[in-house]
Amino acid sequence: MQIRSLREDELDDWFLFITNAFQRKENPPTKEYFERHYFSDPWRECGGIFVAVDDGELVGTVRNFTRKIYCCSCETSTCGVGEVCTHENFRRRGIARMLLERSLSYMSENRFALSVLHTGTASKLYEGLGWTPVTREFFTRRIPFDLYSSWNVASPIEVCPCESEIFEEECLERLMTVYNRTSVKYNGPIVRDHEDYWKKWVQNESGKICWRDERRTPRKFALRIQGSLAGFVVLQFGSESIRVREWSFLGDQISKKFDIVDFVLSQICKLYGEREMSFTFPAPISDMKRHDVQVSDNTTMYKVICPRLLPKKNSTIADLFCLNELQNSSVNSHVFWDTDRF
Ligand SMILES: CC(C)(COP(=O)(O)OP(=O)(O)OC[C@H]1O[C@@H](n2cnc3c(N)ncnc32)[C@H](O)[C@@H]1OP(=O)(O)O)[C@@H](O)C(=O)NCCC(=O)NCCS
Repeated sequence: MQIRSLREDELDDWFLFITNAFQRKENPPTKEYFERHYFSDPWRECGGIFVAVDDGELVGTVRNFTRKIYCCSCETSTCGVGEVCTHENFRRRGIARMLLERSLSYMSENRFALSVLHTGTASKLYEGLGWTPVTREFFTRRIPFDLYSSWNVASPIEVCPCESEIFEEECLERLMTVYNRTSVKYNGPIVRDHEDYWKKWVQNESGKICWRDERRTPRKFALRIQGSLAGFVVLQFGSESIRVREWSFLGDQISKKFDIVDFVLSQICKLYGEREMSFTFPAPISDMKRHDVQVSDNTTMYKVICPRLLPKKNSTIADLFCLNELQNSSVNSHVFWDTDRF
């Protein structure tokens, strides 16, 4: 058994291999999904994909994603881990473990401060190698179309569905500013400082590519104040509660008496002609924490790779993710937008 980097000329076989290895999962990702995640990633690197090869055949793999995340108000170099899989006939022989150990050496060699991954069923595997889950809190709230109705008429915020024009040159710079200035307030969001990441990855994952179940394809909305872009929201319909995949908003001039998230979602309810809709969103984006169903998600895991490169040297994962520097509070401000998920 050999563990080595993937070669460019093996990419096609690799896409087929991972598609097959994930087949048994509920709602398995398609080959196009893996191809899209590879080719729309401006930081992609074939050398960051490791494979286990037995007798000339691929039997396992892991992919390392080069990213930065906002953490304690700093941009922190972070290596994402994804596409971890072993051929069905080779499982429980330590192959995934060996591949992840190789990934950890790669991360140290390339001086990443942190590593992040998302897992449903394999958390034991990662815990055994030092990754720790960090809770993400979500609220589910029923929001009527006429919330803050006295303010509706005078509201300076316009909420409109938008298409690809939002990623075009004139808009993109402003969108990037709105995103950065919102996401820096949380711990965990991906730093999106590459135009191609917006034009390819973000655009593809926000509705450009139609999902297998069409109703679930993400829909995006621009928030404008006096014509100028002030926010961006991406929603996913198709289940009982509409999920907020990402949220950004800059509007310091807006009265603090309103929860802007509630207001915007009620406007969306109105756009669809519904009296009331149920929304699920990351708890840290909302100022008002009342009458909500709260769900804790423990599927995101982190590991410190180079303690000296952390925004606060030698801190633990809990120190890094549960403190909110800007708001100087110890509320959980851990956020990872669905759009960036690998
Ligand atoms: C999860 C997966 C990658 C594990 O691969 P593997 O090569 O069998 O894993 P390893 O043999 O290295 O296992 C190492 C340890 O991980 C844990 N582990 C592995 N598979 C597990 C499973 N299905 N359930 C619970 N724990 C598991 C065990 O602690 C195991 O140690 P043990 O064998 O001493 O009990 C493999 O089952 C797979 O390809 N699944 C389908 C794709 C997938 O779900 N990938 C994970 C995405 S997050």
